[in-house]
Amino acid sequence: MAATHPMRGPNPFKLGIFSTNSDGGLTLTKVPERWPALWSEIVEVTQMADRAGLEFTLPIARWKGFGGEMNSREWSFETLTFAAGLAAATQRIGVFATVHVPMVHPVFAAKALATVDHVSGGRAGLNIVCGWNPEEFGMFGLPMIENRYEQGLEWFEIINRIYAGETFDHDGQFHKLTGVSGRPAPLQRPRPVTLNAAFSPPGREFAAVAADYLFTTFTEIEKGKEHIADMKARATAHGREVGVYTTCHVVCRPSQAEADDYYELYASTMADTASVDHYMGQKEKFSGSHEADAYRLHRKRFAGGAGTYPLIGTPQHLADEMVRMHEAGFEGTTVSFVNFKDELPYFIETVLPLLQRAGLRVA
Ligand SMILES: Cc1cc2nc3c(=O)[nH]c(=O)nc-3n(C[C@H](O)[C@H](O)[C@H](O)COP(=O)(O)O)c2cc1C
Repeated sequence: MAATHPMRGPNPFKLGIFSTNSDGGLTLTKVPERWPALWSEIVEVTQMADRAGLEFTLPIARWKGFGGEMNSREWSFETLTFAAGLAAATQRIGVFATVHVPMVHPVFAAKALATVDHVSGGRAGLNIVCGWNPEEFGMFGLPMIENRYEQGLEWFEIINRIYAGETFDHDGQFHKLTGVSGRPAPLQRPRPVTLNAAFSPPGREFAAVAADYLFTTFTEIEKGKEHIADMKARATAHGREVGVYTTCHVVCRPSQAEADDYYELYASTMADTASVDHYMGQKEKFSGSHEADAYRLHRKRFAGGAGTYPLIGTPQHLADEMVRMHEAGFEGTTVSFVNFKDELPYFIETVLPLLQRAGLRVA
């Protein structure tokens, strides 16, 4: 068993790869080299990240594509089975599953996650998402209820009771269960590391109770500080500590001009316009995942990386930006690329040494 989960390791600023399980990665682009999310290549890039000492791999939870010409994300691997597959193919890296509370029954989720924890020797992670996309709820015949975070808390409590070794009946608002029990417990005690992917105040409140880390967005690094302070205060009110991670899309090139040109090509000229419209419209209407002005100011970021923060430039620029994120209080970030296999090696070769020099990475 891993002595400590990689998320608890020594690096002051931790790194993960996000959305390798899904076609297009985080992009909504038509460039031919867009990420095809083939299993063999996913294993290859995850092993590369593992060897380089990145802390985690995090899949996106998606059931439906975003339309347009590419229908990006319809092709996506289910995340618990994905994590189990990667667990068996890697040595050190944390393997997360991103699990939709309303769609995945907690008794099933508890067993599947414990399985990943055993396969990985204690490297499993749970990213809890309460869902925002009514088209996906429709696929499961479910209404998109308002109080999804209450449902999340109940779901999480059931999982925790199973992991505590209890046999119990549960008479809740969302689940009525009898004779619940489950073994094996996960290797990590009392449970695997948890993230909650959210932005809104109710999302942060949920994280304050249920997550070890909030996984969140920001539009400008300075603004991120406020959200971190708010998250810390909410956690403290519950007598807990919750770290904050964020998420970025990356174009790293030897010169700023090359990086800018490629960003312009894939996220503007070759953007999958209809799917960007659809995605932004649905997200703005049904989720609180982003700051309100993100939709007005940052269309390119939605084509470039689902509205995440752009790290576009030279290795030094990227390292400088990560230093600023670290100084703002972020404990780490995910990175996503147009094509992980083509672009992750250059990031590893050039950016990681700079982060080491800056004291953000020690291992
Ligand atoms: C960084 C980040 C990653 C997310 N990843 C997913 C995901 O993989 N699948 C999903 O359905 N929702 C995802 N979400 C959406 C959230 O789980 C949540 O449903 C949405 O942000 C609305 O809740 P909120 O208003 O509390 O943020 C993500 C949100 C954020 C901020």
